[in-house]
Amino acid sequence: MRILTGIQPTNVLHIGNLFGAITPAVELQKENDLSMMIADYHAITVAHDPKALHESILLIAGAYLASGINPTKTVLFQQSQISAHTELAWILQSVAYMGETKRMTQFKEKSGDKQDSVSVGLFTYPILMASDILLYDTQIVPVGHDQKQHVELARDLAQRFNKTYGNIFVVPEPAIRKQGARLKSLTEPEKKMSKSAPSAKSYISLLDDKDIIYKKIMSAVTDSERLITLEDRREGLFNLLTIFSLTTGRQADEIANEYAEQGMKVLKESLCEAVFAYLDPIQTKMRELLNNPAELKQIIQNGSQTAKMQADAKLKQVKKAIGVTL
Ligand code: TYM
Repeated sequence: MRILTGIQPTNVLHIGNLFGAITPAVELQKENDLSMMIADYHAITVAHDPKALHESILLIAGAYLASGINPTKTVLFQQSQISAHTELAWILQSVAYMGETKRMTQFKEKSGDKQDSVSVGLFTYPILMASDILLYDTQIVPVGHDQKQHVELARDLAQRFNKTYGNIFVVPEPAIRKQGARLKSLTEPEKKMSKSAPSAKSYISLLDDKDIIYKKIMSAVTDSERLITLEDRREGLFNLLTIFSLTTGRQADEIANEYAEQGMKVLKESLCEAVFAYLDPIQTKMRELLNNPAELKQIIQNGSQTAKMQADAKLKQVKKAIGVTL
């Protein structure tokens, strides 16, 4: 199977990104052809600091590798190095309808009541994402729940293009894990854990140190019920039990039973230990990699060269199909 996923390099990378996209991809790596993209052209759709973007590109590469992506097996690449992405995005913009693009929930959320002053790129971003996916004959796209609608748009565009111009694109499917695809904010558990949240207390960053993790988890919003139980309606607690389960590999209901009578504080203390034990080796590896940017850059360059060959071949087929090749 051909698998592809990507993450936007913004200043923060949190455990939602890790469990929603990276660890599922790492699991799929062995048996499949995997591509891991750094979606840097997506990151410029909102105001950004060039220096911070530059650093974040390396941060994402470091996180991929530290989490178990093997660059000799998987193609780790940078979106902006391959001009076929933006070129196909232009072609797909002429296939996509205004109506379906306007329906994208993430655009509505991000633009809020400022629709006239956000960038056009923020609006067309799902079409660039469709291009990322379709250029590589991707069959499966492991993502968190918030990206499902975008992958579905990529499906629709592939099908419409194929119907009009012939069978060029593979129609992709999202792969969304039952657990971990929708981690919630620690401060407002009815919302998702998000990089753009105003408070850093709402997420656990991959590079948070032990003290910070402790502070964030101990002050995570839960409820005042006495017993620990695993129930959807108790959003804050449910989220903590999910994180506990993801970081230990134990079943969430088993954890809830074990802590049933022990109270929230004891549960949170054990969770801090579990999260730190899980992140510690990843952090050590990430710091090591980030200390050697030349090596990281080389890995990205190599992967991007491989990806470029695949993408250019696909774009060639597309251009022929739409009639512009002489
Ligand atoms: P991005 O950078 O916002 O998020 C990266 C991945 O993390 C997942 N995620 C979460 N998973 C679980 N719980 C959460 N709270 C949570 N928050 C985020 C996202 O669903 C995503 O899988 N447009 C994409 C990047 C992209 C891409 C692509 C992805 C560009 N091209 C092609 C797949 C295929 C984005 O902005 O993700």
